[in-house]
Amino acid sequence: MKTRLLSTAFTTVFAAALLAAAPGAFAQNTGKVKVGLMLPATGTFAALGTAIENGFRLYVAERGGKLGGREVEFVRVDDESDPAKATDNVNKLVKRDNVDVLVGTVHSGVAMAMARVAKETGTVLIVPNAGADAVTGPMCAVNIFRSSFSNWQPGYAMGDVMAKRGHKKVVTITWKYAAGDESVKGFKEAFEKGGGTVVKELSLPFPNVEFQALLTEIAATKPDAVYTFFAGGGAVKFVKDYAAAGLKKNIPLYGAGFLTDGTLEAQGADAEGLMTTLHYADSLGTPRDGAFRLAYAKSYKLQPDVYAVQGYDAAQMLAVGLEAVKGDLSRKADFAAALQKARIDSPRGAFSLSKSNNPVQDIYLRQVSGKENKIVSVASKALSDPGRGCKL
Ligand code: BEZ
Repeated sequence: MKTRLLSTAFTTVFAAALLAAAPGAFAQNTGKVKVGLMLPATGTFAALGTAIENGFRLYVAERGGKLGGREVEFVRVDDESDPAKATDNVNKLVKRDNVDVLVGTVHSGVAMAMARVAKETGTVLIVPNAGADAVTGPMCAVNIFRSSFSNWQPGYAMGDVMAKRGHKKVVTITWKYAAGDESVKGFKEAFEKGGGTVVKELSLPFPNVEFQALLTEIAATKPDAVYTFFAGGGAVKFVKDYAAAGLKKNIPLYGAGFLTDGTLEAQGADAEGLMTTLHYADSLGTPRDGAFRLAYAKSYKLQPDVYAVQGYDAAQMLAVGLEAVKGDLSRKADFAAALQKARIDSPRGAFSLSKSNNPVQDIYLRQVSGKENKIVSVASKALSDPGRGCKL
């Protein structure tokens, strides 16, 4: 009896001494993990932000509200897809709200500001959409991961597809910012390698949707086809305006898959038949995707899209990292090593990460049929972004 009392007293004193010596060591892996969700809730990308958050929350709910043994708490910021406000917004999350992990965002320009702060502060960042090549290129870091794509990936895949389909002269049209520029650059790289020529590169500032003058210029140029990058509300308007201008029946329109993902309800018949390339499709027909789609539809009374998948996979990636370090986010090297080794069991098909932490994944050629982006073929198998400029 006396021995047991002594040993209990020793344990209590020992534990108290340890806590006094290293309070942080215990705070790191106990209690809630604070996830800073920086996504657009307003503007042309608002629906994309909602789908990402829905997907992320769905995976957390499937895991009983915990990742790596820690309950998940959310702090949200509407970044408005505004790069001018991005640094302040991300600093608020990291410095005022003391989040453990950053998840965001949709817009490439905003994501680059997030990556800068993540790199400076060492905060784990998982990008659930924005394709900015730089994030997994020159700005890459061991604590920055992407669950989505690089802008180069769908563009490059479509360049190859369109060259093989025999198109020779193409006009490109997009928003003038990182995502549009890089999508077109990736497209051009493969299209020109396949023997095609980009005869005109048209653009307008983000998020403008006054397409009329540019559509007139396309009609006058008479290319074999058009390649485009638009997303969200802008993609809805572009597809409708392209058809209304009478161009759809004469000059085939192709795009990175954001053109028709999450937008088909609003685009209606004007999107019918459009071909795009992306790392997801509505008709994959795998058991993994079927289970995901059912769970998503049950939870949100909505069909999922690529953005929902990317949000879901961002949560899966966080779970992999947190489990490897038993919830202790100070073990950054172990967190990173676990993700480098992982195969993420995504609804899109399993993927691994490249050296610069970007998904190595199949890019599908899809065609709109009714309210679905139906898979036509695998346009590029296990396509890896070159990660140009990344030194890891
Ligand atoms: C981007 O800014 O990187 C982006 C936005 C919407 C869809 C895809 C990419």
